[in-house]
Amino acid sequence: MRPLLEATGLVKIYGRQKVLDKVSFVISEGAHIGLIGRNGSGKTTLLRILAGDEECDGGDVRQMPWARLGVLRQHDLLPETGTTIAFLADGSGRPEWECAKLAARFGLCPAELQKAPASLSGGYQMRVKIVRMLLDRPTLLLLDEPMNYLDLPTLLLLEEFLKDYPGAFVMTSHDREAMQNICASTWEIERAMLSEFPGDLETYLDWKEEQAEFVRRTNKRLRREMADAQAFVDRFRAKASLATRAQSKMKHIAKLRTQLRQTGTDLPTAAFRIPCPRITSGPAVVCDGLSVGYGGMAVVRDISLDIPRGAKVGVVGENGRGKSTLLKTLAGILPAIDGTYKWWHHADIGYFSQLSEDTLSPDMTVLQALTAAAPSDASAEQVLAAAGAFLFRNDDLEKPCRVLSGGERARVRLARLILRAHNVLILDEPTNHLDVETVEVLAGALKQYPGTVVVVSHARTFMNALVDRLYEIRSGSIRHYTGTYEEYVSDLTAYSEEVSHASADVADERIEANKERKERTAVLRQLRRSQERFEARMAAVDKEKSMLLAFFFENPTDYAPDKAMRLAELNDELSSLEKEWLAVEEKIILA
Ligand SMILES: Nc1ncnc2c1ncn2[C@@H]1O[C@H](COP(=O)(O)OP(=O)(O)OP(=O)(O)O)[C@@H](O)[C@H]1O
Ligand SMILES: [Mg+2]
Repeated sequence: MRPLLEATGLVKIYGRQKVLDKVSFVISEGAHIGLIGRNGSGKTTLLRILAGDEECDGGDVRQMPWARLGVLRQHDLLPETGTTIAFLADGSGRPEWECAKLAARFGLCPAELQKAPASLSGGYQMRVKIVRMLLDRPTLLLLDEPMNYLDLPTLLLLEEFLKDYPGAFVMTSHDREAMQNICASTWEIERAMLSEFPGDLETYLDWKEEQAEFVRRTNKRLRREMADAQAFVDRFRAKASLATRAQSKMKHIAKLRTQLRQTGTDLPTAAFRIPCPRITSGPAVVCDGLSVGYGGMAVVRDISLDIPRGAKVGVVGENGRGKSTLLKTLAGILPAIDGTYKWWHHADIGYFSQLSEDTLSPDMTVLQALTAAAPSDASAEQVLAAAGAFLFRNDDLEKPCRVLSGGERARVRLARLILRAHNVLILDEPTNHLDVETVEVLAGALKQYPGTVVVVSHARTFMNALVDRLYEIRSGSIRHYTGTYEEYVSDLTAYSEEVSHASADVADERIEANKERKERTAVLRQLRRSQERFEARMAAVDKEKSMLLAFFFENPTDYAPDKAMRLAELNDELSSLEKEWLAVEEKIILA
């Protein structure tokens, strides 16, 4: 396989933040790479450098003459005038029929192709960007979160397309299922370094967890050794004859400290609770024959439903079918076309729109954006606490919103919502751009939140964990789906049999894993107890030894052969106790 792109010693620094630190790699023909990392770790920055959209502060990228890049950009805006088909044909120089044929593979029908690109829904805009990029027949695709805004069927289409794609690609996504299905190798940016792993995401995460466990155990052992050495230093520092030994112990401690390692799991994760004033029971909103749409044209008709206060409602359905339109109408941003909807009189709605560009002024700093959204009686401490809960501290607070990564932007917008203590939250794709860890925290916080939630999200685990009521929009109408979200997904993909087999297997595996875990805990407990016995004996030996040493120290001329013999015995015993203690520690590590 020939190389397509070679990066050597890439460095990227923003202010005091080092985003990439001497990163080197080669991308070869046919490589299918999944690039992962926490929000703000530098994935988009790296792809932008490779695409030539961003300068680096050191190092160099070499593109081979036979490589042709295809780039999918997160925030590119599509034209507001002209038809989509003309946009595709003019931009690529390919005939319209060829453009339409490829567009059809991504579910873009002729009617859609006649509309202006910017007038399409978020999901369809993403499909147009994908088709536009592919029309240039690239040999290396740089895909930054292509899964965002795609509905499940389109996501599956793209998965299929990429799996068999003969060219190479590097793709970022926070959708672990999609990454697992598509990418053969996994790269991760963490603390400005890039690690390359020649296997799929699950294998990589398992490997990483093993490494982290090893590091944790080694650190624990090092810390214990440091504490023992420190105890020695504390005890003997004052004694002149042992001062040199104490000194060397201190050096030993310093050396051990350098051997302590960090693990990926030590990275901070957002942690927050969503405040909500006390609410009474009753209906939150009642819709009666409601039609929603734009410019007098209804997209979804005759919606009659009521949602109780405190419900966690999910709205699902294909892209472009009216999920966002319904949410915008319920949030009071769009007027209803027909019928009525009525919130209870104390409802105070917080709305999270699908497009972050709508809501964050690019030049405001993070702190200004939060302060502007906080209620007038909120203290500076409250604003800083909300910022901190979403991991914005120190220099981050002064960043203008325009430079934030996709996930950081979403975190600012969530922090703004939380500062307001609404009793209803209408959330349109709040999980887009968020890393897996933050999505998990958000699902937990929303579940705990006593207020009403109406949410659209394509993050499968998030929806599954959160929603207790599901509405599906299909063919211009809405229906209450009485099953769970999981059931909905399996209905949709019509793989119910495989899914139920898979879940039975998972259940068996879980029972087995539980049994193993219990046995392991019992073994570990036994080993730790025997270590404690050794430790108690070592303490007794140590005590006797220090009494003897004190005697020799105070009576330097007294030979005292019995005491000298006892001291030698104690030293022997101590070293064999240490060996035994270490042997048990090895067993603990291997258990
Ligand atoms: N022009 C800039 N000035 C200052 N900081 C910047 C600038 N551009 C990016 N950053 C910072 O660099 C870091 C990396 O951003 P990047 O967009 O590469 O992250 P990412 O890994 O793609 O995150 P996400 O998962 O949220 O998309 C972020 O903390 C971001 O705020
Ligand atoms: Mg990004």
